[in-house]
Amino acid sequence: MNRYENMSSAELSAELALIRAELAKFSEMGLNLDLTRGKPGDEQLAISEDMLGVISSSEDCVSENGVDCRNYGILDGIPEAKRLFSQLLNIPEKNLIVEGNSSLNIMFDTVARAMLFGVYGGKKPWAMQGEIKFLCPSPGYDRHFAICEAMGIKMIPVDMTPDGPDMDTVERLVSSDPSIKGIWCVPKFSNPEGYTYSDETVERFARLKPCADDFRIFWDNAYAVHEIYEDKIPLLDIFETCKKYGTEDSVFFFASTSKISFPGSGLAIMAASENNLIQIRPILSAQTIGFDKINQMRHVKFFKNADGVLAHMKRHADIIRPRFEAVIGAFRSELTGIATWTEPRGGYFINLTVADGCAKRVFRLAADSGVTLTKAGASFPYGNDPRDRHLRIAPTFPSFDDLTKAVEILCLCVKAATLEKLIENN
Ligand SMILES: Cc1ncc(COP(=O)(O)O)c(C=O)c1O
Repeated sequence: MNRYENMSSAELSAELALIRAELAKFSEMGLNLDLTRGKPGDEQLAISEDMLGVISSSEDCVSENGVDCRNYGILDGIPEAKRLFSQLLNIPEKNLIVEGNSSLNIMFDTVARAMLFGVYGGKKPWAMQGEIKFLCPSPGYDRHFAICEAMGIKMIPVDMTPDGPDMDTVERLVSSDPSIKGIWCVPKFSNPEGYTYSDETVERFARLKPCADDFRIFWDNAYAVHEIYEDKIPLLDIFETCKKYGTEDSVFFFASTSKISFPGSGLAIMAASENNLIQIRPILSAQTIGFDKINQMRHVKFFKNADGVLAHMKRHADIIRPRFEAVIGAFRSELTGIATWTEPRGGYFINLTVADGCAKRVFRLAADSGVTLTKAGASFPYGNDPRDRHLRIAPTFPSFDDLTKAVEILCLCVKAATLEKLIENN
């Protein structure tokens, strides 16, 4: 892949000197640019601004079943909020619980509950079964891995492909090791590569035959409606697919409006089979009398229905798309033949793959030039990218000018690190 491959040692050194000189100019500027944060920028937050005003009196707080949202009650969420998510995600209302503001919080609680109480169909709590393991498609979402680390769950990396996790490995491992209790999945616009699982991958998940009777697929559909282009990227419905094989009980489903409305004050849901919810609800009701129903009402009044959400997502897409295109355009013109990257049709991230052994060096060089990148290795269990080559780029949060400047510097850092490696290996 290397554009520098045919250069002599002298040519490589001359090229490196030129790039270092360019980088030196940037380090003198004392810049403070940040490509780490996968969160909406101000322009995106502004399009949900009116949501803050949709509830102004007690009348606005009465749910369609007569419940006063200001008061205690309704563990599952108000009916109109359940309907909104049901339409949007094609999941029956009876299988949905609308909870608080964070799906990550629900995922943490779901793992903690399984550790303490076990899951439907299991004989013992996970924590009473000795060593517990999770499969971690990698690169993946660092905070999934942080949950495992916090709980002392051993993580086993599984390669990601453009079609999803390497299913040969997933099938082999779950059918042979009963201590494997779960797998993290971001099936659409995965974090960080932006890949969407193929139909075959979803089918193979639905057909999995784990040898643990208490194994669960953690299906984190965080980017379910987060297209940045007109074309809708299809993802096979996991519950519908599982129905064909009688495996609905194997899935815990999560989603939220963090990147639809406000990440700090969105709505998050969990969905699961009735068997699972019968086991979960009593434990959840020991934890809370009910979640923030006023916020649920706020979302319903603002979006009205699933079409309202989808129209809103088009506005997000119009803001985000030029940013993805700016980053990818710069990579194409500067890094072709030096690095590779994903070109997602949605989601929040781009994954940049540099030459083996160069990601940490790029991170360091960027930091020295005033650009903060997500730590090299962060998207792997235990922060360990075995080939030290992946970097996660988050284009949504900085101002457009900061983004383009940061990416210009990043490209120089990738070139410098690649040249250094070639010179070292020569
Ligand atoms: C895959 C994935 N899941 C979950 C989250 C966090 O979701 P929430 O804000 O609902 O906790 C993120 C945020 O970046 C994410 O990328």
